[in-house]
Amino acid sequence: MIYCTDFSTINIHKFFKPGDISAMSGINPYIEKQEFELPKVNYRITFLPMKKNVEVFSAEIPTEGDGLPGSILNTALSAGIDMEHSCGGVCACSTCHIIVRQGLDSCNESTDDEEDMLDLAPGLEPQSRLACQCVPDGSQDIIVEIPEWNRNLVSETH
Ligand code: FES
Repeated sequence: MIYCTDFSTINIHKFFKPGDISAMSGINPYIEKQEFELPKVNYRITFLPMKKNVEVFSAEIPTEGDGLPGSILNTALSAGIDMEHSCGGVCACSTCHIIVRQGLDSCNESTDDEEDMLDLAPGLEPQSRLACQCVPDGSQDIIVEIPEWNRNLVSETH
């Protein structure tokens, strides 16, 4: 596991080879198919309030673990940033609720299934997403806020 401290930068080292869709985890076959585009350029995700930066390399998108490949949840977990994700990242709960403070335009559109789950999340905002379903395309750096009620796990493990 990769640990980080405040303002540190983490590199992802679990590799996804572009085109290897069959190896992807975190896809729920019982919900509307999610449309997303994996990043073609490198970008950064900053997690608030911890101010932890994760450098995401387009040639090394993580696919192991939970959430859609390249999703914010999948990226966070791959970088050692633990987040609540009770359903395992398949859009069947709302525990991975995040607020995308910057770069939402570069993320895939939320589906009706994601919106239905988000409706159950406390502290909903217009920029709210489920981290397991939100896949940035890399065209912008992302700033994500983890809601207060979901921060205990993060602070306990780091
Ligand atoms: S972890 Fe359950 S919806 Fe994201």
